[in-house]
Amino acid sequence: MTDRRQKQGKSVFIRTYGCQMNVYDSERMAGLLKPLGYGVVDAPDDADLVILNTCHIREKAAEKVYSELGRLKKIKTARVSAGDEMVIAVAGCVAQAEGPEIIARAPMVDLVVGPQAYHQLPELLARAARECGDVLATDFAVEEKFDRLAEREADGPAAYLTIQEGCDKFCTFCVVPYTRGAEVSRGVDAITAEARSLVAQGVKEITLLGQNVNAWRFAAPAGDAGAQGLAWGLGELCRHLAMIDGLERIRFMTSHPRDIDDGLIAALGEEEKLMPYLHLPVQAGSDKILKAMNRGHTAASYITQIAKIRAARPDIALSGDFIVGFPGETNEDFEATLALVEEVQYASAYSFKYSRRPGTPGAAMPGQVAEDEKNQRLARLQARLEAQRAEFNRAQIGKILPVLFEKSGRHPGQLIGRSPYLQSVHVDAPQSMLGSIAPVRIEDVTPNALAGVLVTKAEAAA
Ligand code: SAH
Ligand code: SF4
Ligand code: F3S
Repeated sequence: MTDRRQKQGKSVFIRTYGCQMNVYDSERMAGLLKPLGYGVVDAPDDADLVILNTCHIREKAAEKVYSELGRLKKIKTARVSAGDEMVIAVAGCVAQAEGPEIIARAPMVDLVVGPQAYHQLPELLARAARECGDVLATDFAVEEKFDRLAEREADGPAAYLTIQEGCDKFCTFCVVPYTRGAEVSRGVDAITAEARSLVAQGVKEITLLGQNVNAWRFAAPAGDAGAQGLAWGLGELCRHLAMIDGLERIRFMTSHPRDIDDGLIAALGEEEKLMPYLHLPVQAGSDKILKAMNRGHTAASYITQIAKIRAARPDIALSGDFIVGFPGETNEDFEATLALVEEVQYASAYSFKYSRRPGTPGAAMPGQVAEDEKNQRLARLQARLEAQRAEFNRAQIGKILPVLFEKSGRHPGQLIGRSPYLQSVHVDAPQSMLGSIAPVRIEDVTPNALAGVLVTKAEAAA
């Protein structure tokens, strides 16, 4: 074992669960810790600080945290008995939802910090050291959390950028409104500054993030005469960011059908930097279930929206989220979900068995569906979604697509990039092309990726 007293600097290991917003938060936490001398390491064993950035969305996700804490307990016990130290912090949505329970169930946890409080990490760590652990910070922020974060460092040519947080929709199955708080939009200037700084560091593609990203609104601050009367939505923000030289691609997720407006549809149709890919979860195809879920849309209104979006941007690839086995879902309701899937034709999708979450209205509803039934429905739905995905991928064969090369492949001389439709593309290309966008002729599909060859710009234009 290394002698800790001689070790230069400190190390942090961050394990991230859940959604892209957590990935973004983990990056920002690493950025906050860097000036304190923490370098990021890729295993917990020798780390001075371990952060679990957790997800509460389904029971399985939340349970993973406790099993991981069990493993960490062994490591920490061995370290402590060797006269060493290890600080364990739990962040993210489980921290927010079950803070006191974590401290009671897992006494070796020193610090519990919610998604709206992690900007205080430096002070909280100092407090945990002073008070020997048990620090709980799960207040919803009143100040602008983002203003307190360190300068953003880019890591590769594609980056996430959180522009909106929280949720006011209260779907009856979902914990997010309780773990992330009310909908809050970041200001245009802060978003633009972060985007510019990323682009200056070589970023070509930015994915704007929010639990309900298209609920983002710009309310001009009182006294800002120039901006008064401006009411921007996500479409206007995307057009604004598209003016940044060097930024080539803009994406956003996750959108809610209730917040799709004409401004966003028009931007999707007109702004070339906006990628033709839209993640628009529908959850179910039966109006009875959508109502019980408190989704605020019907199957027909969703399909009408998709038609409008496709009319504006004919090549758009659609993606969705589905829940099977919500309380009260009959076979007939489930068939309506399958029918909606046939009508829409998804390029990709995520589907889940309903998970009963404590404190949500759905958990107390009658008509909970048996596990067996959920399994069968999920298998049928996934078979259809998988077939649609495979078909969408196969349809790319022979096409020339611009690919942004993000990382090296497993084979020497190979790079892995992304198509406009968010597909992974494997290409033989020199390392020097990492971080650039080049035309690729798609020649093959594997279960999880496309494969293609570089073509010249002239061939691409022909
Ligand atoms: N804000 C986004 C997504 C939030 S969570 C939206 O409204 O679409 C991501 C996905 O997890 C949801 O779209 C839903 O499909 C799934 N999910 C959320 N709560 C769930 C639960 N209790 N059981 C199963 N899946 C759930
Ligand atoms: Fe959850 Fe619904 Fe809010 Fe999405 S819109 S985060 S599913 S409550
Ligand atoms: Fe999970 Fe929280 Fe994201 S519950 S899905 S990490 S918002």
